[in-house]
Amino acid sequence: MSWMVTGAAGYIGSHVAHTLHGRGREVVAVDNLSTGHRAFVPEGAVWVACDVRDARQLTEVMRHHDVTGVIHLAGFKYAGLSVKEPLRAYQDNVHGTMGLLQAMTDAEVRMLVFSSSAATYGTPSEEVVTERTPVRPESPYGESKLIGEWLIADQGRATGLRHTSLRYFNVVGAGRREVADTSPHNLFPRIFSALDQGRSPKIFGTDYPTSDGTCVRDYVHVQDLADVHVAAADCLEAGIELDPIYNIGSGTGTSVAEIMSVMKKVTGIPFDAEVCPRRPGDPSRIVADGAAARRDLGWAMSHSLEEMAASSWDAWRRFHR
Ligand SMILES: NC(=O)c1ccc[n+]([C@@H]2O[C@H](COP(=O)([O-])OP(=O)(O)OC[C@H]3O[C@@H](n4cnc5c(N)ncnc54)[C@H](O)[C@@H]3O)[C@@H](O)[C@H]2O)c1
Repeated sequence: MSWMVTGAAGYIGSHVAHTLHGRGREVVAVDNLSTGHRAFVPEGAVWVACDVRDARQLTEVMRHHDVTGVIHLAGFKYAGLSVKEPLRAYQDNVHGTMGLLQAMTDAEVRMLVFSSSAATYGTPSEEVVTERTPVRPESPYGESKLIGEWLIADQGRATGLRHTSLRYFNVVGAGRREVADTSPHNLFPRIFSALDQGRSPKIFGTDYPTSDGTCVRDYVHVQDLADVHVAAADCLEAGIELDPIYNIGSGTGTSVAEIMSVMKKVTGIPFDAEVCPRRPGDPSRIVADGAAARRDLGWAMSHSLEEMAASSWDAWRRFHR
């Protein structure tokens, strides 16, 4: 019996795979290395270089390794870029989820935890987003994640697949020094990259309807997030009924300007951010209510913003040295 982790060579998937493996489970790590790194996969996990759109190969892998459940994180995560290149988001996130579901059906794998996103909400009218907040994605990325949730729910009704989708808010930090967020588009890596090159980090938009005019986001630590995936897998395995959707956020909003202040402190580099125009597809404020995940999955944040920033900086420097 084993759990498959797709996207296991990625930033979050690696933390999930390490956490599962550390708790004594057999892990089958699947990734096509389009943005991931082979070195991020835990030693001791079964490594399979595979694209999740390849249902036939996935089915064989599932059967061969007696996979009983899947945590599906493989995907294309760049909301801003998806506005310019929508097909990339749909290929990996919709076609990829269909390939995985086909393989799970063929191999009779009945449990799935899906990596969804707060981008499904777009710019919500509520200050605090609950699972009942209407979904209005504002980018092909957000749309592709929502379609993934629908595919999974439909498949659940049709085949009895037991599943839950975790809508993460902004994921930062490092639970392991060796695993950094190497995305060139996420806020923390963009700040670090600019500082490394002696440039000013950019703030996109200071005219949003927020307290300091910069976008407000809800930041969660990647290790806390990895833990909640394992909790979800445990519940599914124990036959506990889960909701189809959980928000995974801290409930606290932090502005981009506030992040810049924390970054000055943890890096010790006194910089002035460069103000740029807004980017298409960026909602102004998005903060979660994580009460349902707290109730059912024991979700809790155990890291401060400063810890998140400091661990991210440490992992970034280690990765780029
Ligand atoms: N990072 C965040 O803040 C955030 C927030 C919400 C949701 N998510 C979702 O979490 C998941 C993981 O994100 P991440 O930050 O670790 O990104 P990442 O890019 O580091 O990891 C994604 C991994 O999936 C792999 N992959 C992509 N397409 C694939 C395919 N077709 N077949 C096999 N492997 C494929 C990549 O090589 C990579 O290793 C993504 O689905 C993303 O949409 C991330």
